[in-house]
Amino acid sequence: MSSRIPRQFIDELLVRVDIVDLIDSHLPLKKTGNSFVARCPFHVEKSPSFSVSRKKQFFHCFGCGASGNAISFLMDFSHLDFVEAVEDLAGFAGVEVPRESIEYQSGQKKGDLNSLYVLMEQVAAFYMEQLRTSDEGKKAAEYLKNRGVSGNCASDFMLGYAPDEWKALAGRFNQKLLIEAGLLVSSENGQIYDRFRGRIMFPIRDKRGRIIGFGGRVLDNSLPKYLNSPETSLFHKGKEVYGLYELLEKDAKPQRILIVEGYMDVIALAQFGIHYSVAALGTAASQAHLDLLFRFSSELVFCFDGDKAGREAAWRAMEPAFSSLKDGRQIRIMLLPQNQDPDSLVREEGVDGFISRMQTAETLSEFFFGHFSNELNLSEMEGRAQLVSKVKPYLEKMPESVFKEMMFARLKELSGWVSLDVLENAATFASKQSLKQAPRAAGRKGPQDNGRLSSARVAIALLVQNPRLAEVLEQREIDWSELEFSGVTLFKNILQMIADKNPANAAVLVECYRGAAEEKSIKALALLDSQVSDDKIDAVFFDSLDRLLIQARETALTRLLNKGKAEGLDAEEKEALRKMLATK
Ligand code: UTP
Ligand code: MN
Repeated sequence: MSSRIPRQFIDELLVRVDIVDLIDSHLPLKKTGNSFVARCPFHVEKSPSFSVSRKKQFFHCFGCGASGNAISFLMDFSHLDFVEAVEDLAGFAGVEVPRESIEYQSGQKKGDLNSLYVLMEQVAAFYMEQLRTSDEGKKAAEYLKNRGVSGNCASDFMLGYAPDEWKALAGRFNQKLLIEAGLLVSSENGQIYDRFRGRIMFPIRDKRGRIIGFGGRVLDNSLPKYLNSPETSLFHKGKEVYGLYELLEKDAKPQRILIVEGYMDVIALAQFGIHYSVAALGTAASQAHLDLLFRFSSELVFCFDGDKAGREAAWRAMEPAFSSLKDGRQIRIMLLPQNQDPDSLVREEGVDGFISRMQTAETLSEFFFGHFSNELNLSEMEGRAQLVSKVKPYLEKMPESVFKEMMFARLKELSGWVSLDVLENAATFASKQSLKQAPRAAGRKGPQDNGRLSSARVAIALLVQNPRLAEVLEQREIDWSELEFSGVTLFKNILQMIADKNPANAAVLVECYRGAAEEKSIKALALLDSQVSDDKIDAVFFDSLDRLLIQARETALTRLLNKGKAEGLDAEEKEALRKMLATK
């Protein structure tokens, strides 16, 4: 993106749009009591557990846990990234998205980017034309035909041919733009010439179908076999995959996406009717790649060579996967026979053979634990201890989910290891779940819940849900800095955020925390049903705080009295004690 969307615009947009109207326009809602409900669009269900609150400007599914504000809804529902969702929401509200005038990084203006996109389109059209009409190009077309690529398939992927000339592009298009688009190279002696010469050209499109880069393959055995566009203001290898646009054209919600290595793998599979594969562009699949692909499908299948290097590559690709693994998402690893790639394999074994290999591919958990079981000797205690220390860091990266619990359970089983740590982990998870899902969690006392926690939770949740309370709080001349309870850091952090950003409602406040460490907790608090009616909010809020304050003072008093008995107090502490006893 060339410039930023001002924060204030986003906040105002969230206030201007009513989330009920927005969601209702995508998915009809029914009114029940104070909320609006529907069958959840994010998981399959028979009875509606997806609910939208007009007051909080928030949606929440009690079934799958999906939740968020209007922007999050559009991101999830329409598979948009953040900026696209803001643009969509602005469209819904009928307003223009303003851009901050400061330009960052590339210093590109939006207009310049547009002319780059136009240029890329023209260059691709030129290459396609060359493939069809020039003598050289016809040889390239012949090469594709020999590799089993049909004319239809070539045109789906906009395949082309770059003539074997130094200035085929330079003589036809704007030189400055060609340089910015990465299509020209300048040599040491200042000569400028075409980057791609005598190659079959594979345009790389983003998910909206705009051409952002190219790959080019030689027709013989010369090296380098492939050349790719360099990083430009349009093209970021770590974020894009080859074939996604073409895939979405065939099926906007594929059941699974297959991740392969090469351009020709994607094309050969599509030729055989397996149109749901993409290739990472000569890099290992990154976290950004996975997040992108999981927006379109809940199952990803990675394809790797079956040799040692392939297994190692598979292992490297798994690393970023762990933090993407929410419930309902699945990853499989498909290891190919020696010296085969998907292109050669599908030709040799046919579609059915290929698909059955894909369906029986190892799941991530099998592959993951298999990797360690091969590496370590689990019949010895030392090996099992190593297993724990190697596996734990991966599992801890996973978002809270049933799947995470199961991975921990498997680790326990393999290692024979039961430790407090895991039990604690499970306990925190359970309490987070009840906060999210059980409406009456705030008032209920669990075994560890001494009432103090409840007051604290109620106070913080009410603050998140009614940011205006911060102002009322300020007017009360009480030294809130004495407050001491589990969660007080978060409480103060929220107060500070409200003071800085002045959010109009809970949805805007949650937006302020997007991507921050506190985001998850704030969301859970926004969803907590405190069972407080509107006219009692202020009273309950201050009552909870008063109770917390009294508890904090008592704790401080006991601490001082104990210290006095054990080792005596200094002058400052004595003064504090005197004050406390006087106000008691
Ligand atoms: P492969 O050599 O496996 O590609 O490289 P391929 O698609 O099977 O090639 P064919 O079948 O011989 O035509 C896999 C990917 O690695 C990158 C490309 O993205 C390629 O698709 N690569 C490979 C390069 O970037 N440069 C190279 O020289 C080779
Ligand atoms: Mn190949």
